[in-house]
Amino acid sequence: MTVHTGRHFLQIPGPTNVPDRVLRAMDMPTLDHRGPEFAELGHAVLAGCRRIFRTKQPVIIYPSSGTGAWEAAIVNTLSPGDKVLMAETGQFAVLWRGIAEKFKLDVEILPTDWRHGAPVDQIEAKLAADRLHKIKAVLVVHNETSTSCVTHPLEVRKALNRTNHPALLMVDTISGLASLEYEHDAWGIDISVAGSQKGMMLPPGLSFNAVSEKALAASKANTALRSYWDWHDMIAINKQGTFPYTPATNLLYALKEAIAMLEEEGLDNVFARHQRHGAATRAAVKAWNLELVCLDPHCFSPALTAVMVPEGHDADAFRKVVLENFDMSLGTGLGNLKGKAFRIGHLGHFNDLMLMGTLSGVEMGLDLAKVPHRGGGVVAAMEVLKQRNTVPMVKAAVA
Ligand SMILES: Cc1ncc(COP(=O)(O)O)c(C=O)c1O
Repeated sequence: MTVHTGRHFLQIPGPTNVPDRVLRAMDMPTLDHRGPEFAELGHAVLAGCRRIFRTKQPVIIYPSSGTGAWEAAIVNTLSPGDKVLMAETGQFAVLWRGIAEKFKLDVEILPTDWRHGAPVDQIEAKLAADRLHKIKAVLVVHNETSTSCVTHPLEVRKALNRTNHPALLMVDTISGLASLEYEHDAWGIDISVAGSQKGMMLPPGLSFNAVSEKALAASKANTALRSYWDWHDMIAINKQGTFPYTPATNLLYALKEAIAMLEEEGLDNVFARHQRHGAATRAAVKAWNLELVCLDPHCFSPALTAVMVPEGHDADAFRKVVLENFDMSLGTGLGNLKGKAFRIGHLGHFNDLMLMGTLSGVEMGLDLAKVPHRGGGVVAAMEVLKQRNTVPMVKAAVA
């Protein structure tokens, strides 16, 4: 039996820590999802989601993990044989590609070393060469949770615009939403895919598609079969604040509360907080003399930091030491990075002292696991956190 003598430190990059306020908001009797009281909740969360995605268009809320929303983006707009362009930026791009292939899409993949964002110049060259417009969609992962490398969706949109290419732009922002700056409408995203258990600070179980008018038109024209994921049934009934099937009622209470918390802090302050925590964590990694997985400062993730362990050392053995000694879960290396890297999640409901506790646990764990490193990472992070160049958190809340 595991005994917790205080809070477990859940520092994986999702699911993230759920605020007590959100837990209390969920702790409600389940209500009749076809009754009048539910519609109020339904309207509130649908409108709130539009504000978080920064869109005036519909946001679809599914009772599913993020994988469902990946599938929904594909089955609503694409048919077997359609060509799509993707960049293999990491394990989550690999998994999304797997879904696309199961639905018999013709996937052209741009490989990367998993240490950079998507190669936007190569995407642009492919689009420019595609004079017959065979490519129906470009799919990118905004915050690649396996590598901590960001692909900036606006740069991909600009590549589409420069080449005058009509392909849909689909963005997986599952670990980006509500942690990294995100503008569904202003950036010209056609489908944004997100999940509840990361920056949204909710338990796993909800996922989202934000859609553009162009994506809606593509889905109307698309004859591929789908039922559960169909946007149109959902959007039609959402107008009354209800859902075509039983929604995850108590998670919707939680969603309403989480949106309130994000808006009390102010989304821009949320993004700035994540930036600071990313910078402080990278300062610690540098002081430890360890290597970041992400090699391009333009792509450093504000939401998590993936760290290479030196050759001959096993990242999972180190994580085990940290868990057993300090009751802290760090993210495992995924796919190609299995055993070679660990990931520090610093997204969602998180503050400076939680970060200091996290980095202290990492530094002590490096010592105990005998991973070669220098000391001083925690002190280096403290120096970054002391430079308060953003609105102090307490002030932000009351402003
Ligand atoms: C970037 C990204 N995409 C997709 C997924 C898959 O989401 P889920 O595990 O909720 O199905 C994850 C999960 O961690 C993710 O981080």
